[in-house]
Amino acid sequence: MSMKPDLSTETTGKTSRRLTWSTRFGFILAATGSAIGLGNIWKFPYITGVYGGGAFVLVYIGCVIVVGLPLMISELIIGRRGRQNPVGAFQVLSREGSPWQIPGWIGVAAGFVILSFYSVIAGHALAYIFKSLPGFVGTADQIREQYSSLKNSAGSSIAWHTMFMVLTIAIVAGGVRRGIERWARILMPTLFFLLLFLMIYGLAFTEGGAAAINFLFNPGFSALSAEGVLSALGHAFFTLSLGMGAMITYGSYMKKEVNIVRDAVTISFLDTFIALMAGLAIFSMVFAYGLEPGAGPGLLFETLPVLFAETGPWVAVSFFVLLTFAALTSAISLLEVVVSYFIDKRGWSRMNAAIIMGAVIYFLGLLSAIESIKVPFRGSPTGFFDIFDFVSTNYMLPLGGLLTGLFAAYVVKDRIRSEEFGSSGGLYRAFVVVLKFITPLAVLIVLLHGLELLPFMDYGN
Ligand code: TRP
Repeated sequence: MSMKPDLSTETTGKTSRRLTWSTRFGFILAATGSAIGLGNIWKFPYITGVYGGGAFVLVYIGCVIVVGLPLMISELIIGRRGRQNPVGAFQVLSREGSPWQIPGWIGVAAGFVILSFYSVIAGHALAYIFKSLPGFVGTADQIREQYSSLKNSAGSSIAWHTMFMVLTIAIVAGGVRRGIERWARILMPTLFFLLLFLMIYGLAFTEGGAAAINFLFNPGFSALSAEGVLSALGHAFFTLSLGMGAMITYGSYMKKEVNIVRDAVTISFLDTFIALMAGLAIFSMVFAYGLEPGAGPGLLFETLPVLFAETGPWVAVSFFVLLTFAALTSAISLLEVVVSYFIDKRGWSRMNAAIIMGAVIYFLGLLSAIESIKVPFRGSPTGFFDIFDFVSTNYMLPLGGLLTGLFAAYVVKDRIRSEEFGSSGGLYRAFVVVLKFITPLAVLIVLLHGLELLPFMDYGN
C-alpha cells in the first residue's frame, strides 16, 4: 500500500477532483484490456478468413493507423479534459445545451446494446472452458453440434450469460482502482502468456505454421472485396473500443501529466499485435488440420474444438480461459461507461449503478441469449444477437466516432495543441488534418454502407 493520499474517491458533477488510475501502467493495462476482447480473438480471425487473408489484414492495419489512432487520441483528450462520463465530458467542453452532447448519448446507449450481446458470446466462452475439461470426443460433426446445442438451448445460454454478467458487475462495483485496474493487472498478463503459448504451439508444433504466416501476411489483393475494406474499417472501431466513449471514460481517470499520444500508440499497437498473434495461433491449427479458414462466426466454437479433440484438453482449456479473460476486461469497460454516467450525472453510488444498470443490460441480453426469438429485420427473420451487433457496429459506433472526431478537430483543437503534442508541431498538424478530412470521410463511407447507400456497391435489391 502506498502512503499517498487516497484520490480514488468518486466525485460528482463538475468538481475537478476525480479519481485516477493508480499508475500509468495500470491505465495502459485497463485500456488495452478494453480494446483486446472478443473482437481480437473471435472476430478478427474469422473475418480475416472470410475476406481472404493478407490483403484484408493490411487494410485493417491501415485503418487502425489512419482512423483508429487519431480517434483514440481524441477520446482520451476529451475524457481527460472533461473529467467525466461521455455525456458530461461533451457538455463541459461545449456550450450549455449544445447538440454536441449527442455523441455522449449515443455512447451510453451503445454501452447497453453492445454489452447485452457481448455477454452472451462471452458466456459461451466461459461454458467452453468447462466443456473442454473432459476433452472433446466424437466425430467432427458431433463436436460441431455441441455448439449449436449450446446456442439453441435458451436455458444454458442464459445460465452462462448470467454468470458472465455477475463477474462483470462485481468487478465494476469494486471501483476504478480496486476493481478494474486490479483485475486488468491480473488478467492481461495471463492472457498474453496463454496466447504466446498457443501461438508457439501453433507455429512450431503443428504443420500449419508456414501456411498461417502466408495467409496472414502475403497480401493477395484479388481476394479483397469492397465489402472487405468496409469491414476492416468498421472492425478498427470495434476492436479499439472507439465510437462510444469507452476511451473517454477511461481517459477521464487519467492523470494530467501522462502523455496521451504515446499511450494511444501503445494501446493501438498492443491491440493489433494481439490480434495478429491470435490469428497466427488459430490459423496454424486450422491449416494443420485442413479446416476451412472462412468458416465464419463458428470458427472458434465449432471448428477449433474439432482439432482440440486431437491436441488434448490443456490446449483447449488455455484457449477458452484466454477468450473469457479477454472478454471480461472488455465487458467491464462497456459497463463502466454506463455506470460512470449514473454516478456523475445522477449521483448514484457506484455499487447501485453497477448492480442496477448491470441488471438492465442483463435483461436486454436475454433477447440475444434466446436464439428462437426472431423478428423481421432487413427483409428476413433475424435474432437479436445479429441485430444488436449489426446496429451497433455499423451505425452507432461510426456515428459516435464521426462526431467525436469532428468535436476534437473543430471544438477542442486549440486547447489540445501545446498540452498534448508538446513542441511537435508537425505531428499536431497531421493529427488535425486527418481528423478534419480523412477520418470523417472514412467514417461516412462505413455509415453509408451500413445504410446500404453506397453508389458503387451492389446490395442486391
Ligand atoms: N474492443 C473490444 C473487443 O475487441 C470490445 C469493446 C469493448 C468495445 N468496449 C468497447 C467495442 C466499446 C466498441 C466500443 O472485443
